[in-house]
Amino acid sequence: MRLTCTVNGEARVADDLWEGESLLYVLRERLGLPGSKNACEQGECGSCSVYLDGTLVCACLVLAGQAEGGEVVTVEGLAAGDQLHPVQEAYVEAGAVQCGFCTPGLIVATHDLLGREPRPSDAQVREALAGNLCRCTGYEKILDAVRLAAERMEVLP
Ligand code: FES
Ligand code: FES
Repeated sequence: MRLTCTVNGEARVADDLWEGESLLYVLRERLGLPGSKNACEQGECGSCSVYLDGTLVCACLVLAGQAEGGEVVTVEGLAAGDQLHPVQEAYVEAGAVQCGFCTPGLIVATHDLLGREPRPSDAQVREALAGNLCRCTGYEKILDAVRLAAERMEVLP
């Protein structure tokens, strides 16, 4: 099977896919984008969060074929070249990255939240990120990172 889609603004093609292959597998193993992490492969941890046609999805639960003709944005696609996105910077600066395994998914989920709700309450943040599990940080630094990102994005033009 062949998959043709747009990933991070570029037209991409992957050949010889097995019909049951996940979008996560294709991104990581065939398209050279290891940012999205494979932690549970069951839709439980959110480490593989990406956008598919503008909707936040767990890439491990999406069949690659479902992305045919679609537009995928991964954590790599949020940066502008070498310039990190304010959400990415905020996670680093707030110390919200320890082992880092959960971080890409949290960053994409935070980006999605702040796109919908630029000034979220702590309760809204906790609800939006409830599907993203972190075993290291205790979540407080993650809340700090989201607050910092919201502040930074508010002052951007
Ligand atoms: S790897 Fe997809 S939700 Fe955990
Ligand atoms: S930083 Fe290790 S799982 Fe979140």
